[in-house]
Amino acid sequence: MASQVLVAANRGPLSYALDADGTLSARRGGGGLVSGLSAALSRQPEALWICAALSDADREAVRRGVSEPGVRMLDIDPAVYDDAYNAIANSVLWFTHHHLYDVPREPVFDAAFHRAWESYVAYNRSFAEALAEEAEQGARVLVQDYHLALVPGMLRVLRPDLLIAHFTHTPWASYDYLRILPSYVREELLWGMLGADVVGFHTHAWARAFLDAMTLDDGHGVATADGEEIAHRRHEAWGDRTTSVRVFPLGVDGDELRKLAHRPEVNDKLAALRAEVAGRKAIVRVDRTELSKNILRGLLAYRELLTVHPEWRGRVVHLASAYPSRQDLAVYRSYTQAVRELAAEINTELGTPDWQPVLVSVEDDFARSLAAYRLADVALVNPVRDGMNLVAKEIPVVSEAGCVLVLSTGAGAYEELREDALTVHPYDVTETAAALHAALSMPSAERAERTKRLAAHATALPPSTWFESQLSALAAP
Ligand code: G6P
Repeated sequence: MASQVLVAANRGPLSYALDADGTLSARRGGGGLVSGLSAALSRQPEALWICAALSDADREAVRRGVSEPGVRMLDIDPAVYDDAYNAIANSVLWFTHHHLYDVPREPVFDAAFHRAWESYVAYNRSFAEALAEEAEQGARVLVQDYHLALVPGMLRVLRPDLLIAHFTHTPWASYDYLRILPSYVREELLWGMLGADVVGFHTHAWARAFLDAMTLDDGHGVATADGEEIAHRRHEAWGDRTTSVRVFPLGVDGDELRKLAHRPEVNDKLAALRAEVAGRKAIVRVDRTELSKNILRGLLAYRELLTVHPEWRGRVVHLASAYPSRQDLAVYRSYTQAVRELAAEINTELGTPDWQPVLVSVEDDFARSLAAYRLADVALVNPVRDGMNLVAKEIPVVSEAGCVLVLSTGAGAYEELREDALTVHPYDVTETAAALHAALSMPSAERAERTKRLAAHATALPPSTWFESQLSALAAP
């Protein structure tokens, strides 16, 4: 086994901006996947991260030969990239794994879809070829997420000597939901994933859903060997081989997070937020404006809380940060608009001259989010379905007075945090309103105890441990 480690992910650790005078500057890439992986990879001296050029500035950097050590960006044709990322990864695979379709109307697998699928295949092939070219004999390759589900299979054919892992940061669709996809698409996805030696998920629930897809489909087998689940598959190019299906939960690096949360910039934002909250209790949520995050039902639950328990009026503020995401997709733009409108409606209906019930921020302002974490009395994390949800782990670590976590049964974090959270069914607005009331009313000693245990669970498996356990699993697949 070579010591070289390669990572493949759609998003890279940095992205470029093109200034008016034509100079390129590098910035840190966004998102939880990137921060977790960047932290873990900084400990791997020989690592190479292969990612896609996401913007014109990134493409320009590739063309000019500008790069950072340990990173290779792929300049994929923009039309192919758009189809693969927007039309397939975000509009179909994300919706499938998160159960988001409004099924009487969608999805529609028409000619445009089948063409876009070809682009997804081509985009995956670009990654597989780049990995095959860069990897030393016997190197370990860690492929990330639903964007790159075909890469393990493609790479296995090109380079049978490599040790390949795939990690899914989202949930995996239930058996029936996966069957919404055209059969050949489902078959190719499973073929791709089973090219890996190790397939990883955040929770047992998602690993189980993946194994269900194997058990119930023809041509695949599932077995349990030494307590570990393996999926078995034959392919003419590989012969007989097995894939081990494993659970690697991701947590947060507590020291690093506390350090970030106490930078002067965050202290300034905290002072401003404190002035707005003015001594009232704070219910905090921080998400991308993402359909799976269930922000609208969160707002409805807050409205129901204020209606059923009018004693909270004027005594609580809901700080909702919903920073923009995937705004190239119309459905995300209209969701963002719906969040703004519902928050405004609640403010008009219930607000008074000296109290605004909801403070919504739709800017990408990480310092403000950290300040809100510190201020939180209650953290509301109510996704309909979510791979892990690191916010559920982050808020208890930095909240100053301890916070009560109201957590959806649909979040991956539910498996680890359920004991010390107040758990809610994500579609049940009344139950969520009742949990918010219970959270606001909880005696401070109990709240502090629960927060301590939540923070201990949240920091037990920091990104470096998550990453290293996958590398060890590959060393002995
Ligand atoms: C979240 C998900 C990841 C996903 C990422 C992509 O972090 O947990 O599964 O890879 O979003 O987001 P993007 O902004 O790159 O589309």
